[in-house]
Amino acid sequence: MPVLLERCLELLAPGLTLPGAVHVDFTLGLGGHAEAVLERFPDVVLIGLDRDTEALAHARHRLIRFGDRTHLVHAVYDELPRVLGELGIPMIHSGLFDLGVSSLQLDEADRGFAYSQDAPLDMRMDQSRGATAEDVVNGYEPGELVRILRQYGEEKFAPRVVSAIVRERQKVRITSTARLAELVKDAIPAAARRTGGNPAKRTFQALRIEVNAELDALEGAVPAALDALAPKGRLVVMSYQSLEDRIVKRALAARSRSTGPIDLPVELPGTGPTLKLLTRGSELPSEAEVAENPRAASVKLRAVERIDEQDQTSGTGRERSRLSTRGKQGRLRPGANEGEG
Ligand SMILES: C[S@@+](CC[C@H](N)C(=O)[O-])C[C@H]1O[C@@H](n2cnc3c(N)ncnc32)[C@H](O)[C@@H]1O
Repeated sequence: MPVLLERCLELLAPGLTLPGAVHVDFTLGLGGHAEAVLERFPDVVLIGLDRDTEALAHARHRLIRFGDRTHLVHAVYDELPRVLGELGIPMIHSGLFDLGVSSLQLDEADRGFAYSQDAPLDMRMDQSRGATAEDVVNGYEPGELVRILRQYGEEKFAPRVVSAIVRERQKVRITSTARLAELVKDAIPAAARRTGGNPAKRTFQALRIEVNAELDALEGAVPAALDALAPKGRLVVMSYQSLEDRIVKRALAARSRSTGPIDLPVELPGTGPTLKLLTRGSELPSEAEVAENPRAASVKLRAVERIDEQDQTSGTGRERSRLSTRGKQGRLRPGANEGEG
């Protein structure tokens, strides 16, 4: 079931009802969100991107009845400018990122994403190219592995886990998720093992991010999406871990505040914010949503609208927007959620 479906549709609706609206689903997956958009907004054209060819095949089957209203493209989401160029579509009116792995990727044991199922150590979202988790675990320098586990997995015991990996790989190549999960579990002190869920979770997350260069792609993709967004167009991003959410938060905040001199009561041309934040900090799911859909448990949702410059140059629009203006220190004003929450 698609995460926060009704909330996403509510936030995107003003963009989806603009004349000639084009919606981009940057993470098409199994096409759940995309199907609801196409059903409820009969004039919308969808561009659906996914780097996973299996996901695309599922979505293509599911969305077949919408015919020429859909363009489904095998692409990494930061390739939007190329995709739009090839389709001859100059701008978009609505966009959705539902980050992370799909239920298909988690459920199909042979993809190697799940620490709870034994499988070859693959973890590539695009199985047609690139290094696998097995290549990373067996080939990277120990120092580099420690950095990845610390940075992408926030694993406190990264040096211990990496020592265990290195000891093992000197004897025999590590090729399965079960063996890796076992090595991680044994490397973590017993006291720490009793809290925080499966001890392999952080290592698996770190490897998945490294294998798919997930954060680099996101760093490029959010600005590319915002550049393509038409005036009054809307973008919603759902992240499932703090590293992703931090990248999203920064990219949105950078365009939602003035770059002009702090003390002027009006904006100088070209210095005003180009985005209006629609969520205060990030929105979390309700208890009811999590009960119904456990995948929603860790979601953080952020949404923005592209400001229409026509409004900015007329009347009250020239005054600085209270929600978007920097405080004296050039930070978001007090009350806006600067934390991860
Ligand atoms: C959580 S699922 C999306 C689920 C979808 N919203 C639905 O309703 O079925 C995330 C999808 O994004 C894809 N994905 C992750 N990173 C990507 C990237 N950098 N470029 C393109 N697709 C990506 C994954 O392959 C996966 O299919």
